[in-house]
Amino acid sequence: VRMILMGPPGAGKGTQAPKLKEKFSCCHLATGDMLRSQVAKKTPLGREAKKIMDQGGLVSDEIVIGMIKAELEQNSECKGGFILDGFPRTVVQAQRLDAMLTDKDQKLQHAVELQIDDGLLVSRITGRLVHPASGRSYHKVFNPPKQNMTDDVTGEPLIQRSDDNAEALKKRLVTYHEQTAPVVGYYQKTGIWKGIDASQEPGHVWKSLLGVFDDGK
Ligand code: AP5
Ligand code: ZN
Repeated sequence: VRMILMGPPGAGKGTQAPKLKEKFSCCHLATGDMLRSQVAKKTPLGREAKKIMDQGGLVSDEIVIGMIKAELEQNSECKGGFILDGFPRTVVQAQRLDAMLTDKDQKLQHAVELQIDDGLLVSRITGRLVHPASGRSYHKVFNPPKQNMTDDVTGEPLIQRSDDNAEALKKRLVTYHEQTAPVVGYYQKTGIWKGIDASQEPGHVWKSLLGVFDDGK
């Protein structure tokens, strides 16, 4: 499958994408996860990105486009298709992705928007716990780990993202509505857009997501 998952912070992109990856045996590329791995390694890019991410802004288009291009070309899991999570986030990124895929004759099949009101996102974001190495996420109340504060698979400690506080979330939402909402409009014009209700519990959202593939693609 070749698809993108859009939606505001906390909509459930990172919760649903690993299940899609398993179903379709493809790659899951999350630009946020890639950037956080640079931050963890304290690379020059990571240091620069951390400031921007903690303030809820966007890292430059050139940097994230370069990261996605490299993964699509080199990550062998992407031979089976891809799920993009958190990319594209600006109209420029969407246009560049289109150009990249047209060159390869691998056009996008689905652009799925996880739709949810901002008011529901504060509790999701402030309760999130993540396993940094894998990107797996949990929630203190809605999806607690089996053991207190440790990853179900590796047993390693879970942490809170430094941008997961009410203040940074406010800025991330402003950025989303200003810069990423137009990307939704961009795909609505193409005929591959579908919106699904992301306010329901995770199992219900998963069922709605599966409905996207009813057209057999
Ligand atoms: P990124 O990591 O992409 O963050 P985001 O878009 O803000 O999205 P989140 O990861 O917060 O939300 P999610 O939808 O994945 O939610 P999740 O499934 O975890 O980006 C971070 C930063 O990096 C950006 O701010 C920017 O600075 C930079 N960046 C990244 N990509 C970029 C790009 N392309 N261009 C420029 N800059 C870029 O769920 C959240 C919580 O809710 C979890 O605790 C989960 O357990 C829980 N939950 C999930 N689903 C449900 C449900 N149905 N019911 C109840 N709880 C649920
Ligand atoms: Zn995410």
